[in-house]
Amino acid sequence: MSEKSFIAKNFKKFPNQFDITWSSPSNIALVKYWGKNKDQTPKNTSISFTLNNSRTITKVEFSKKTKSSSDIIFDVYYENSKMDSFREKIHIFLNKILKYCSYLSEYNLKILTNNTFPHSSGIASSASGMSALALCIMSLEKKLNPAVENDYFNKKASFLSRIGSGSACRSIYGGINVWGEHEKIEGSTDLYSIKYPYDVSDKFKDYNDAILLVDKKAKQVSSSDGHELMNNHIYADSRYEIAQKNAYKLKSILKNGDLYSFANIIEQEAMMLHALMMTGNPSYVLVKPETLDIINRIKKYRETSKIPVCFTLDAGANVHLLFPKEDMDQVELFIESELKKFCKDNSYIIDKIGSGPIQL
Ligand code: PMV
Repeated sequence: MSEKSFIAKNFKKFPNQFDITWSSPSNIALVKYWGKNKDQTPKNTSISFTLNNSRTITKVEFSKKTKSSSDIIFDVYYENSKMDSFREKIHIFLNKILKYCSYLSEYNLKILTNNTFPHSSGIASSASGMSALALCIMSLEKKLNPAVENDYFNKKASFLSRIGSGSACRSIYGGINVWGEHEKIEGSTDLYSIKYPYDVSDKFKDYNDAILLVDKKAKQVSSSDGHELMNNHIYADSRYEIAQKNAYKLKSILKNGDLYSFANIIEQEAMMLHALMMTGNPSYVLVKPETLDIINRIKKYRETSKIPVCFTLDAGANVHLLFPKEDMDQVELFIESELKKFCKDNSYIIDKIGSGPIQL
């Protein structure tokens, strides 16, 4: 589908009031998106697990304007308190998508949002937050044009989420998502994410993700600055080439359930993301000593226990420990006895692959 096909048309009449609530999950990338074009399309294909418990719940109350104006008027509340610090990002987002959702200028928006994970946990809420907001907007679009079909609804929700925050586009479908064109992955596109289109081994069913909270502070480097680093990065071209290869390798691993090869690629991707930051200009070190302690123990545990645990990282110090559902009890003991002490306030969150957003 082209960008043009996302320009909304055929509205029926505008209701005076429309309220909608969506709960949308975060996601964790296996093959990382790092480096983007001006229109927030990615430089390489990324593949992610959609999470289940780490979510943003957003209600939008749309009230028809009494006087017409082309501005988008909105207020944002986080946990029922007005949150002016969220305004700028949302203002930019709404103005960017106005071209595709012109009906928004007919309304005043009251956006009420909260996260299921603690505010100061160091877990980024842009993927869950932007996708929840995009889904609310798409529900209004469907109200205005009931002919909007599910497939279009989801694609456009992902397309709009991408404009808000790249990785957010991978939160619209449950399970495994692919974003960014790949010649060997059918239907993949830079414009929005698709549900991973191939068979996946049952070994990945209900895969777990324990998020080990090493640092609960907000990100030291914004992802925009991080992506920016890639524009003049000495390793940029090799990185994009390796990412495409890793996305392809993952295809057979996801099918045959070879969890050790999975660990190998996933960890390489995480380390490469941080290596790119460390070798950028300027350079950033986002891992903490505790991150490395945890990584080393995970590798050792994999060797000694023969449980195929592996780790991945976001653009921060927290560690995502991925492991099969059947190993839950033993891995929890491992976290309790060996990893939790490296986490801030001993805290971690157990999450798993989820089935995607829910309209409440
Ligand atoms: O969506 P952004 O711009 O916040 O970028 C996210 C980048 C990583 O989380 C580091 C990787 C990814 O693919 O999610």
